[in-house]
Amino acid sequence: MKWIFVLFLPLLLQAQTAPPAQNRFVGNQPCRTCHPDVLLNFYKNPHAQQQCEGCHGPAGEHVDAHGGKATIKAFSVLSPAPILEACLSCHSKDVPRANIRRSPHTEADVVCTNCHSIHKAATPRSLLAKPQTELCYSCHPAQRAQFEMPSKHRVNEGVVQCSDCHNPHGSSPSTSRMGSSSAALRPAFDNEEPCLKCHSDKRGPFVFEHPSVRVEGCEACHVPHGSTNAKLLTRPVVFTLCLECHNGAGTFGRQNTGVFQTPATHNLLDPKYQHCTLCHVRIHGSNADPNFLR
Ligand code: HEC
Ligand code: HEC
Ligand code: HEC
Ligand code: HEC
Ligand code: HEC
Ligand code: HEC
Ligand code: HEC
Ligand code: HEC
Ligand code: HEC
Ligand code: HEC
Repeated sequence: MKWIFVLFLPLLLQAQTAPPAQNRFVGNQPCRTCHPDVLLNFYKNPHAQQQCEGCHGPAGEHVDAHGGKATIKAFSVLSPAPILEACLSCHSKDVPRANIRRSPHTEADVVCTNCHSIHKAATPRSLLAKPQTELCYSCHPAQRAQFEMPSKHRVNEGVVQCSDCHNPHGSSPSTSRMGSSSAALRPAFDNEEPCLKCHSDKRGPFVFEHPSVRVEGCEACHVPHGSTNAKLLTRPVVFTLCLECHNGAGTFGRQNTGVFQTPATHNLLDPKYQHCTLCHVRIHGSNADPNFLR
């Protein structure tokens, strides 16, 4: 309803003669004289059905004054808050207000036009100001180095994108561990870790769960971006990772006596026993064996 009103508003206002001192809507045609490049390219824009004034506000005074930034909603001089509002007036469905308000980007005054370009987009889809990976790296240079490490998600090669795991518009607090993190993670299956979208084989349910996968989540053993350790592991050697928990300390586990120590059969001085996942091959969970041996 609102959009239909916006579309016809210029016509309505032209029909009645507006009071002279008040700004008025003039439609797209007057823009052609002075902004021919913008107007002539606009038919390709996903906003082609929108009026210029749907974003830039009434342009009557602007035309009367023969241009100028002070007489129109000029995004080049607007502060972040009114930019956000201008775009959300139509986009609060695809970009929910509650999420974007608490997103780390909005909190840092990074808003729609820092990432999107309406008239000079580098990508026709989503109107990004630069191709996605380049866009994110322009402000997050440290992450580039992480995706160049020996074990990594192939983001630089275009196999995986930042937005597979992150929602740049912020995420809703959810029941998943990662959904409540500040890193604006994009949950898989509504409220699970983003990792499970692509690695659903690690999701289970398994007859024999490895509780660390379920309870602590993937980040108990993996880093998400890149690592010098094989398989994105948090530790260079697998057994040190296992022994972080399997050391009998703490009050975790069925007997509340800590996570099991490795059994007496395991002589950890014997190199054979140091490659835990050579035997415990179904480390994420198994349907056949309580010790994840197959
Ligand atoms: C008579 C010429 C003229 C007409 C007609 C005109 N403009 Fe402009 N417009 C200008 C000039 C000059 C500027 C100032 C450019 C500058 O300062 O860099 C400007 C600036 C703008 C800006 C600000 C851009 C920024 O820096 O963010 C917008 C938006 C704009 N015009 C939109 C429109 C729209 C929409 C229409 C049609 C309703 C229109 N203009 C009609 C001459 C015109
Ligand atoms: C969906 C919102 C939207 C619509 C619709 C829109 N603009 Fe813009 N316009 C912007 C934004 C945002 C900018 C700031 C630069 C950018 O993001 O590309 C801008 C910048 C401009 C500029 C400054 C020069 C430039 O290229 O950056 C002019 C002139 C302009 N718009 C004119 C128009 C005209 C004429 C129309 C209609 C044909 C129009 N705009 C429709 C959002 C819009
Ligand atoms: C007057 C309503 C209106 C305003 C204001 C508006 N948009 Fe849009 N926008 C639309 C419509 C309608 C579409 C087309 C939606 C579709 O194709 O599903 C669209 C499409 C888009 C798309 C492309 C979506 C895609 O799937 O590729 C982006 C990105 C976008 N808008 C960003 C913005 C930004 C940034 C602003 C503020 C500068 C803005 N819009 C202001 C109505 C608007
Ligand atoms: C930090 C950068 C960033 C900011 C800030 C940002 N966007 Fe986006 N936006 C993106 C990226 C990246 C995509 C593409 C996501 C994808 O391909 O999955 C996108 C996609 C979109 C789309 C396409 C539909 C969708 O949800 O994927 C729309 C519409 C959109 N943005 C509108 C907006 C509006 C409106 C604002 C401000 C309220 C905004 N964006 C702020 C980066 C940003
Ligand atoms: C215009 C600069 C800019 C762009 C472009 C940008 N960001 Fe950001 N981003 C920031 C700022 C500033 C912060 C808040 C400060 C910080 O944590 O670095 C932030 C925060 C974040 C955070 C939260 C960091 C934390 O410590 O919890 C994530 C995740 C993030 N951005 C991802 C992205 C992704 C993905 C893209 C590309 C779609 C992107 N950003 C594009 C500037 C930007
Ligand atoms: C495979 C999923 C995934 C991909 C792809 C991904 N991230 Fe992340 N990112 C995460 C997770 C999970 C965290 C949270 C880590 C934590 O909280 O310990 C994170 C954290 C961050 C942070 C916060 C600081 C930090 O390093 O912990 C920033 C900034 C960030 N990511 C930016 C990016 C950018 C930019 C891209 C693309 C170039 C990207 N991410 C791609 C999953 C991913
Ligand atoms: C968009 C899909 C996607 C998402 C989301 C995703 N991954 Fe991956 N992951 C892949 C692909 C594809 C590979 C294969 C890597 C290659 O071929 O370079 C991979 C490989 C891996 C590897 C093996 C790396 C190696 O060096 O062999 C681990 C571990 C991993 N992912 C963990 C995770 C974790 C943890 C998350 C969540 C933070 C996650 N993945 C999210 C697609 C994804
Ligand atoms: C208890 C520690 C631990 C947890 C928690 C964990 N992983 Fe792993 N993961 C490993 C180890 C160890 C390897 C290497 C196995 C090997 O070397 O054979 C691995 C390997 C992988 C691989 C690459 C090899 C393969 O099997 O495809 C992927 C992908 C992966 N993990 C994804 C995940 C995801 C997704 C999660 C969260 C749902 C997760 N992991 C949770 C320990 C863990
Ligand atoms: C983040 C903590 C954590 C890490 C790291 C971890 N585990 Fe576990 N593991 C557990 C917990 C908790 C249990 C369940 C103990 C219980 O039920 O009392 C468990 C159970 C097991 C069991 C099954 C015992 C049984 O009979 O229920 C095996 C086998 C096992 N882990 C092997 C490993 C191996 C091998 C590694 C290294 C690749 C590893 N774990 C890493 C926490 C961890
Ligand atoms: C040579 C194969 C092999 C290797 C290597 C191995 N395990 Fe085991 N593990 C077993 C077998 C077989 C069992 C079940 C029978 C038993 O208790 O000995 C088992 C059982 C376990 C259990 C369950 C104990 C319980 O009380 O139920 C844990 C925990 C465990 N291993 C951890 C590890 C860790 C950590 C490593 C690496 C330091 C490791 N294993 C290396 C074969 C292996």
